[in-house]
Amino acid sequence: MSDGLCVESCERCPALVESRSRIVDGVGPADADLLFLGEAPGQQEDEGGEPFIGRSGDVLDEALRDAGLARSDVRITNCVRCRPPENRDPHKEELANCRSYLEREIEAVDPELVVTLGKVPSEHLLDRDVAVTKEAGDVTDARVGDRSQRVLISVHPAATLYDASQRDTFADAIARAAELAGVADGESGQSRLGDY
Ligand code: URA
Repeated sequence: MSDGLCVESCERCPALVESRSRIVDGVGPADADLLFLGEAPGQQEDEGGEPFIGRSGDVLDEALRDAGLARSDVRITNCVRCRPPENRDPHKEELANCRSYLEREIEAVDPELVVTLGKVPSEHLLDRDVAVTKEAGDVTDARVGDRSQRVLISVHPAATLYDASQRDTFADAIARAAELAGVADGESGQSRLGDY
């Protein structure tokens, strides 16, 4: 890892070393106000080398646009940087193995707000059970390394593909994140997180 943002090589998780084509690092500005955190790369991300470029990525991009943001305005990364076999959830040990990379990335970017996309990233960062549908849009604090990080919980964009009732929940969470970080269209760039 050179600048805290890229992992050049890693062999910590034998199953993932086997299943990946490449390590998929986060993308977006190194000083972004908003950092979106997914679970792990899927097939398209593994092939393309960028987080959220498949169908879930299309949903995320659309919600960002609706909130007045471009994909290039935000940082997007995953809890685990290598594609798990058969797209299974990352195991606890794999999440733990990748944690130091995530912590260094969050520390380097120092975002106003991290948005956790779905159950796995929400529970990983908050270190508790999270009912994402119920808690979507909630703002809370997480301990990330030796810092306290403001976090907004969201459902995963893929949830909207399986369950249409999640579309508004997802769009509302992203719009709220943009508003709170002060980066939505017409905003002053002034974070409103001081109130939370
Ligand atoms: N789902 C994720 O959680 N991350 C990706 O990068 C793609 C899909």
